[in-house]
Amino acid sequence: MLNITINNKKRTIDVPDDMPILYVLRDELSLLGTKFGCGLGQCGACTIHIDGHAMRSCITPISYAANKSITTIEGLDDDANHRVQIAWREFKVPQCGYCQVGQIMSASAMLDTIPNPTDEEIDLHMQGNVCRCGTYDRIRKAIKHAAQLPANK
Ligand code: FES
Ligand code: FES
Repeated sequence: MLNITINNKKRTIDVPDDMPILYVLRDELSLLGTKFGCGLGQCGACTIHIDGHAMRSCITPISYAANKSITTIEGLDDDANHRVQIAWREFKVPQCGYCQVGQIMSASAMLDTIPNPTDEEIDLHMQGNVCRCGTYDRIRKAIKHAAQLPANK
């Protein structure tokens, strides 16, 4: 049994310690917003926050999150109005959409530590999030716009 806070709710979970968090979220808790891409930590589609840090949930065992706080896209903002989500809509960032939850989770974690990132800082922090549709230019613009919006509590 593991005690974990997920999207501000305390949960007790009975799964093997080495189960990837991604499987716990999707298969045990029906939180389907977090996507399975490569399953190898190489694409970023499965990005979540653990204690505020962007992490790849496909390669992180659930035991790592014991007594920590997980945030998924469902918990980023109750009304999907996190400043990054607002900027994503404004700049119509997604194309097929598959990578975008991971992009948003990485971008939101970055803005919590780098309030006004340069293009180089954005490229560095977002480089692990692959977009096969090539939306990188819109991602960069949306992040810069989000940085100018009020920070979420
Ligand atoms: S699915 Fe986790 S990094 Fe690709
Ligand atoms: S929007 Fe299609 S993979 Fe990124």
